[in-house]
Amino acid sequence: MARRRPLVRRSELATPASNERMIAKAAASGADLVFLDLEDAVAPAERPAAREKAVAALTELDWGATTRAVRINGVDTEWAHDDVIELVTRAGDHLDTIIVPKATAARDVWWVDVLLTQLETKLRRERRIRLEVLIEDVAGLAHAEEIATVSDRLDALIFGAGDFSVSLGARVDTNFVPTVDYPGDFWHHARSRVAVAARLGGLLAIDAPYPDYRDPEGYTREAQRASALGFDGKWAIHPDQIPIANGVFAPTDQEVAEARRAAAAYRAAEREGHGATGLDGRLVDAAHVKLADDVLARAAEIERRGT
Ligand code: GLV
Ligand code: MG
Repeated sequence: MARRRPLVRRSELATPASNERMIAKAAASGADLVFLDLEDAVAPAERPAAREKAVAALTELDWGATTRAVRINGVDTEWAHDDVIELVTRAGDHLDTIIVPKATAARDVWWVDVLLTQLETKLRRERRIRLEVLIEDVAGLAHAEEIATVSDRLDALIFGAGDFSVSLGARVDTNFVPTVDYPGDFWHHARSRVAVAARLGGLLAIDAPYPDYRDPEGYTREAQRASALGFDGKWAIHPDQIPIANGVFAPTDQEVAEARRAAAAYRAAEREGHGATGLDGRLVDAAHVKLADDVLARAAEIERRGT
């Protein structure tokens, strides 16, 4: 299994590329990644014009430490080809990542990867555009493993509960919470499969949007459930959701302190030739120290990012 990319993606803010006022706010929002949406947040007739606005925003605004991404239209639409060509040609090095929606099979991602390689060669662009992919229909979930391993440009799989609910015919409300009694976490299977596939490819796993931005408790609950399964971050559809995601997906001070103690105890035991030790009456072995190292690496990465 490939090692997870050392990237900080606690929050990914969705912003319609058609709305200049929202884009200006997004650039200063403090999200780890902002993506300008050319797909479902924009009316079909507005999509070519939104593309122009995305190019202008990427090249003219100060994005600070935020990763600059664009969600293109699905590869089966009339817009996808021009989205990639126009963005890469005109935004140059101001674009870091392309988000591919509604991936149904590895070939969907492969198509974008090949087009990017052609463009980067033509434009003599040295820094390669990265990719994130939405798993948001039943075909995407069924092929999540092959999608996660098809391209070395991939950084993350994103679970898209909205379109996934449509594809499944799920009985959910506008926050994708079941409208009938359901024992347990309704999204456990889908999330878990996305997280496992992501790790198979050494990728991050990013959780779905939560549309009700006036419900911080609901957002926190869903973020925590995803985080328990190994997810690294969550979409935000409003700037108010960013600090919540940034908090939930960062190791707590207590987790960092415990990780430091466990790692130190294990390494001291190792120097004396032992493969395990005890700490406060609990066993610390090789798996515990790997978990501790992962917590410490994520905390260091967040600190390096500076927010
Ligand atoms: C995101 O695009 C979703 O469909 O949830
Ligand atoms: Mg969607």
